Amino acid sequence: MAYNIAVDGPAGAGKSTIAKAVAERLGCIYVDTGAMYRAMALYMLREKVDLQDRAAIAGACTGADIKIGFEDGVQAVYLNGENVNAFLRTEEVGNAASVTSVVPEVRKRLVELQQLLAAESDCIMDGRDIGTCVLPKAQTKIYLTASSMVRAKRRYDELTAKGENCDLGKIKADIEERDYRDMHREISPLKQAEDAVLVDSSDMTIEEVIERILELAKR
Ligand code: DC
Repeated sequence: MAYNIAVDGPAGAGKSTIAKAVAERLGCIYVDTGAMYRAMALYMLREKVDLQDRAAIAGACTGADIKIGFEDGVQAVYLNGENVNAFLRTEEVGNAASVTSVVPEVRKRLVELQQLLAAESDCIMDGRDIGTCVLPKAQTKIYLTASSMVRAKRRYDELTAKGENCDLGKIKADIEERDYRDMHREISPLKQAEDAVLVDSSDMTIEEVIERILELAKR
């Protein structure tokens, strides 16, 4: 049976940075499920699907064939055959992903893909519903969080480092709106699984968080 680590938590908690590093040290793959939801949202934006219209999203999602590949351990997301990694990390796509991911048809397609990957390979998988829905039997479960101010500041630093103009207050408001939507949707809302360990990274360095997760995985 494959060894699975589930990492859930709100936007900007550092899940992907941490999970990537843990995967490298353990020699397993890192599955970024947010990137799959982002690829789906990118498809909806490109197809100009009305994001207020759930039925339209449900209907359109069958046109998005999403596949995952691993190149030197790095996940590549393919949307209808095109590697779309370069288009996924914008605020527009992230916010759209939060909206389109509430649609059951979207979740069903992507959860099936995630379960298949985890059954085939040892992995650390991050998202919102991994410990609660996708991999309820994961051997290690982490709920990684940080205060919304700390998360907004991290995102702000990341964007300004890339030369993007941005506003800290607006980023914090967007993060809080996204948290609310992710935590209050009907299906698979973001919440800590009963058997997950809470790690609050607000006052921790990246290395401290990595060490903590490795220690929990070794148990
Ligand atoms: O982790 P992220 O910011 O890349 O995720 C983008 C959006 O995708 C997030 O706001 C909610 C959705 N998502 C989800 O519903 N379930 C997951 N397992 C991962 C992400």
